[in-house]
Amino acid sequence: MNRLANVALLCICLISCAFGQEKPAGREKLLLDDDWKFAFGHPSDPVKDFGFATSYFSYLAKAGYGDGPADPAFDDRPWRQLQLPHDWAAEQDVDPAGSFSHGFKKIGRAFPERSIGWYRKTFPIPAADKGRRIAILFDGVFRNAQVFINGHYLGTEPSGYLSFEYDITDYLEYGGENVITVRADATMEEGWFYEGAGIYRHVWLQKYAPLHLEQNGLVVTTAVQPRQAVVQVGLAIRNQHTIPQTYTLKTRLYNAAGALVQQKKIAAAKVGALAAAQQQVTLQVPQPRLWSPDAPYLYTLETIVETNGKETDKLSTAVGIRTIRFDAREGLFINNKAVKLKGTNNHQDHAGVGVAVPDALLEYRLKALKQMGVNAYRCSHHPPAPELLDLCDKLGILVIDENRLMGTTGQPMSELKRMLIRDRNHPSVFCWSIGNEEWRIENNQIGATIAQTMQAYVKSMDSTRPVTAGISGGFRSGISNVLEVMGYNYMGNGDIEAHHRQFPQQPAMGTEEGSTFSTRGIYTTDTAQQHIAAYDKKPRPSFFSIEEGWNFYADRPYLAGLFIWTGFDYRGEPTPYGWPSVNSYFGMMDICGFPKDNYYYLKSWWRDTPVIHLLPHWNRQGQEGKPTDVWVYSNCEEVELLLNGVSKGRKTMKRNGHLEWQLPYQPGMLQAVGYNKGQQTITETIHTSGQPARLALEAHNSQLKADGRDIAVLTVSATDNNGYPVPDAANEVVFTITGPGKIIGVGNGNPSSREKEQFIEEQINLPLKAEARTENKQDTSYRFQGSFDLPGSFTGDSVVFIYKSIGVTQTIRINNQVVATELPQQLKGNRFSIQRQLLKPGSNTVVITGRAIVKKHDWDVVNTDPGIIQLVIPANPWQRKLFSGKAQVIVQSTGGTGSIQLQAASPGLQNITLHISAR
Ligand code: GAL
Repeated sequence: MNRLANVALLCICLISCAFGQEKPAGREKLLLDDDWKFAFGHPSDPVKDFGFATSYFSYLAKAGYGDGPADPAFDDRPWRQLQLPHDWAAEQDVDPAGSFSHGFKKIGRAFPERSIGWYRKTFPIPAADKGRRIAILFDGVFRNAQVFINGHYLGTEPSGYLSFEYDITDYLEYGGENVITVRADATMEEGWFYEGAGIYRHVWLQKYAPLHLEQNGLVVTTAVQPRQAVVQVGLAIRNQHTIPQTYTLKTRLYNAAGALVQQKKIAAAKVGALAAAQQQVTLQVPQPRLWSPDAPYLYTLETIVETNGKETDKLSTAVGIRTIRFDAREGLFINNKAVKLKGTNNHQDHAGVGVAVPDALLEYRLKALKQMGVNAYRCSHHPPAPELLDLCDKLGILVIDENRLMGTTGQPMSELKRMLIRDRNHPSVFCWSIGNEEWRIENNQIGATIAQTMQAYVKSMDSTRPVTAGISGGFRSGISNVLEVMGYNYMGNGDIEAHHRQFPQQPAMGTEEGSTFSTRGIYTTDTAQQHIAAYDKKPRPSFFSIEEGWNFYADRPYLAGLFIWTGFDYRGEPTPYGWPSVNSYFGMMDICGFPKDNYYYLKSWWRDTPVIHLLPHWNRQGQEGKPTDVWVYSNCEEVELLLNGVSKGRKTMKRNGHLEWQLPYQPGMLQAVGYNKGQQTITETIHTSGQPARLALEAHNSQLKADGRDIAVLTVSATDNNGYPVPDAANEVVFTITGPGKIIGVGNGNPSSREKEQFIEEQINLPLKAEARTENKQDTSYRFQGSFDLPGSFTGDSVVFIYKSIGVTQTIRINNQVVATELPQQLKGNRFSIQRQLLKPGSNTVVITGRAIVKKHDWDVVNTDPGIIQLVIPANPWQRKLFSGKAQVIVQSTGGTGSIQLQAASPGLQNITLHISAR
């Protein structure tokens, strides 16, 4: 190569490097969940809020002026280290001054000390990333998240439910450390149900080329034709270079086996500087496999952008080919096949962990619903975690994706838009909901107008899905009259048939129905304990049982189906009670996912496989000879009941019904035998058990991925000496875990339990009270004198002094004993373990002497705070009482491989150890 050619090559390289084309190719989406620091701040006390926003110039006054924890130099070493997702509300105790909606957790207005959560994370960005675009993506933070990077304010996200992203390319230290800070404020509630607090969903770092595909600009729609399907792909190629670019766009569709179905290429296309180019691609799929709840077949669409033969970006999107049609007379059709919606409403929280639900636990919950026969899920009353929709695509669950607050001004409309563009490619999403029970506007013209505006906007963004809302304030006026698909919230709230007669062209479904109360495993209502018997009864005189609700919807083809209120119990809304109950009673399953009896009613009529279930349990000591109501849920044609081998009669099951017997209670064995076509098909047998004798442990997953995220959900129960389960056992069980796993939460499904859900070590940070600081300007020496108060109750062997240099050199004495001599200044600080013998209960003195840091400029800020003394109070052992014979422990991988051993022990019972492998 001659010299000229060499120079030319160098020039090309310099130009392209300057425009960032030679950087690591392709897109990376990196999970940023590990190693966050966390501490509570304060909504009104600036000292307790780490001095945030107290500087002369605020972060709003001048760029990069984030102070307190938003300052990259802030010392967060004393803060607690944790892994996301995190819900600090679940960690709190309950208190009658807490909110009914939030399950009486000690957060919110009455508990300012527990309502602001600060998060910080330091992460490196390699020098080689210079020239790429880098963005930070939050799946969801509850709530009002103020976000900073390296002291720069990025913005505030008010919603606790939407994903949000900031492009931080211009703010990063390439080849250095970067600090992201989030201040979440859970003082205000957004809903009337438990909402958690903090960064409770994933955080991602996205890196991609300046010439890239807009993630939320991708629109995939499908149409099914007689012999083929058409996949229509709309996309936007964004060019963040300052010169125009030429690119090639490739789209490839693969089937579930990974075979290429069709590909298309658009070559030599142009996009202007700092502009976006729209492209449309049509792909044909001969003999398509369709997506449906029964067969959720997924194709994979790859969209690839190349420049100069090199891939600069690639997105992979799951595609389900299916059609949706609502018919005002015949209900819902998916792929032109009638589908009755057998749905549940759900909030996000689970026992033990609150709303910080690991992905594997989301899957556990969805599978539990599917087991019951569910084919639909309503995200009440806000957009879900994106991972939930991925799972619904995969598992075959139809989703109503719901907007939080109705309104047509900038913010509510932008929230609606963000839900639409984030979620529109999920085949599981079959309907958008613009809101729920907006009582102030539901029945008036304002409501109708707002609904029309929002609905028209949704249709302009996505014409393939219908729009609904949950309506309860009476039907036939206001919002209900203008909705594309009517959403009835409860038969008890109005005359559904009259509405249908008046609006015969309007398709409809039951967005909420049931709303019954029951406590798992309890068969006698006990108002003192706030327990409600689990026989399916009308919750209120004008409301309907689960059976009445399902029958009404099952019998009317014009109703597309219903969504039971709710699949799982949740924290908050302990209707019809209040404190001291903290969880709702509405679920078909309790908050752990343990089925209540109603679950089996629905399973009988929502699934095709034979089901039989008996209630109550047969431990009714003291009730001998008294009449006892025995119910059987089954989908068998006939059921025979036997008590201690003696038939109590064989009865014919009515479709969508249940069977009842009344018997004098007699301990022993109760059996229900289901018959189809005269043949014995399925039997359930329950026994009166003796006292609890031993514990049993069962894991839903006994082989964890050693990835630091996977979980096993463990059921703890008690059996008697004969091995029969003890359905009313209430023993306190203590758990010990060894190996590469940790417990992240415990629960038992008792709505009035006020036990702790998490046992975590406490870090107490004792500030050093500065009593004097003297400086000698002549020889620049200084003397700091301060003290800290050691609580008399502290029994640990040592405390930690988390020290930050206040001098160029420092000699540190605690109670006149030297801790460090002539220690040179350390920007990152030092840590000293101080043995207990050196300390005394009450006041301890700290004296620091040395050479002072000299200011170069008047306006320099030098550190004068030597740090804090930290006491670590170890966590109590994890424990939980059994409730109605059961409790739940959630175990998570800590990343290593090996055997995790969980031991459950209870005084007087034979304990048990379960092995789970992590690999
Ligand atoms: C409905 C409401 C739900 C829940 C339920 C409790 O009216 O939409 O969010 O509050 O009542 O019965």
